[in-house]
Amino acid sequence: MCRDIKTRIEKAVVKALGEAFGDVGKGAKPMVTNATRAEFGDYQCNAAMGLAKKLKQKPRDVAGKMLDALDLSSFCETPSIAGPGFLNIKLKNSFIEDRLLQMAKDPDRLGVPKKEAKRIVIDFSSPNIAKEMHVGHLRSTMIGESLARTLEFIGYDLLRLNHVGDWGTQFGRLILYLKEVAPEALTEGGQRDLGDLVEFYKKASKRCETDEEFNENARKEVVKLQGGDEESLKAWNLLCDQSRIEFQKIYDMLSVTLIERGESYYNAKLPGVIEELRDKNLIAVDDGATVVYLEKFKNRDGNPQPLLVQKRDGGYMYATTDLAAIQNRTLDEKAERVLYVVDAGQGVHFEQVFQVARRGEMYPYETASLEHVPFGLVLGEDGKKLRTRAGDTIKLKDLLTDSIAAAESKFRDRLSEEKREETEEYIKHVGEVIGLSAVKYADLRTNRTSDYRFSFERMLALDGNTAPYMLYAYSRIQAIFRKLGIEGEPPVSPLKLEEPQEAALGRMLIRLPEVIADVDHMLMPHILCDYLFELSQRFNQFYETCSIVGAGSEDIRSSRITLADLTAKDIRICLHMLGIPTLDRI
Ligand code: ARG
Repeated sequence: MCRDIKTRIEKAVVKALGEAFGDVGKGAKPMVTNATRAEFGDYQCNAAMGLAKKLKQKPRDVAGKMLDALDLSSFCETPSIAGPGFLNIKLKNSFIEDRLLQMAKDPDRLGVPKKEAKRIVIDFSSPNIAKEMHVGHLRSTMIGESLARTLEFIGYDLLRLNHVGDWGTQFGRLILYLKEVAPEALTEGGQRDLGDLVEFYKKASKRCETDEEFNENARKEVVKLQGGDEESLKAWNLLCDQSRIEFQKIYDMLSVTLIERGESYYNAKLPGVIEELRDKNLIAVDDGATVVYLEKFKNRDGNPQPLLVQKRDGGYMYATTDLAAIQNRTLDEKAERVLYVVDAGQGVHFEQVFQVARRGEMYPYETASLEHVPFGLVLGEDGKKLRTRAGDTIKLKDLLTDSIAAAESKFRDRLSEEKREETEEYIKHVGEVIGLSAVKYADLRTNRTSDYRFSFERMLALDGNTAPYMLYAYSRIQAIFRKLGIEGEPPVSPLKLEEPQEAALGRMLIRLPEVIADVDHMLMPHILCDYLFELSQRFNQFYETCSIVGAGSEDIRSSRITLADLTAKDIRICLHMLGIPTLDRI
């Protein structure tokens, strides 16, 4: 139903270029972009400049000839030539009105086309058992959840995998230490709540540093575990369960859905990975270890850098597990795309692993793509690594509960200022939604490739590009409907965009399919936030100038109701894709 407007303009431009400039024109790119400023119109065509060089004509003359041949009259005003030879293109209000009505008749999708159910695996969150689940994992969790929701909305078939670090040397230390201090925790039945195990792990690691014998015994524990010793496996299982409970608390708080498929899942496949690489003649032995020499990665001495896949003691590597996971995801799960939402610091790891998987022909690379979706660091307000005052890394759960407490107290202040009453239950609910949304939104609104500075103050502000601002815009619209006595779904009426603020809001609304297509293409949730921010601002401008109750006629009044309702639905869809629920009253 909703053929992309930009594509339609591009097609018309390509046709016009061919007509006006023959073969030279046919080969030229249409160069249609969104207008840089609203007063220029909706779109802009920059084709004349490049073409002028080829034709050795003045850009403005080229633009003029192009304009003569260009027919957009069915849905655009006559374009105007600006600057050195741009064409400014403005959609007709009648076209926008039609679009809006179509959207209003499609309340669940607002005209966003549904794509075919392509299979996508998305690997996100992926914390390590017994190690800190830190703000970096939080970032992966939020970006991953948001991308998964957006891609699901588009229609793709998503498999959300949590590649938990549940195997490795940490367990040797941990099991040994717990045998000493809390043996009952390692046997079934003798339950004891160990929290997220991080404290125990830290102490165990300290012991390793100072106590050589302990260190040696810890290594032996790892060998026992990897050798399948029953008692060790039982202890390992109990520890994983313990961590799982702690992770799940955070996922529940954040409404995140994930299927756990940790590193240990691939254990049995690891020898096969080495065999396959050997069959492809990619394996070499380097100082007793099994490696693959990489292309394009060089050591300081100029020789190819090795990717370690098996240590001399027989242990496998993080990279080996990822190779096995690639096979599982593309061959067994039949993913056409595998997305890895992992911090930018692991960029080299993924480049190397993907390279080896490709050279080893371990996955159907012609039909499946492996994509690292990197993100930057989370910094404290001082621009340094986020830490507590005491200098410890901040625990995720503390961070979330702090944000909830701050949001709740702000809401209480507001209620007393406005002399409003709400039940204790509702106040708690609002605190939770706003507190958690604020953290999510602050994270997601930053271009994921940049680092961002964490500040409660900024994320809970009611103004600016924050979750409370968007939630407020939404609840404001619900308040308007309550005031008008509208219960349930407001009626859908034809749109009439008379005032400039109405037209400006309408223009933002019809952009939704394009915005979602951009997120699909670039995997950047902040595009949604930028859009939401502009949409909410346009709504507020509309609301300040265009009275609904005092509208000049019944037609205008009902048009405005539909416009407001479309805005609310649009905000709700976008917030949902950011992992944020809405509130009717705040
Ligand atoms: N557990 C890893 C970490 O905390 C992230 C895993 C990412 N996914 C993967 N397939 N390597 O750094």
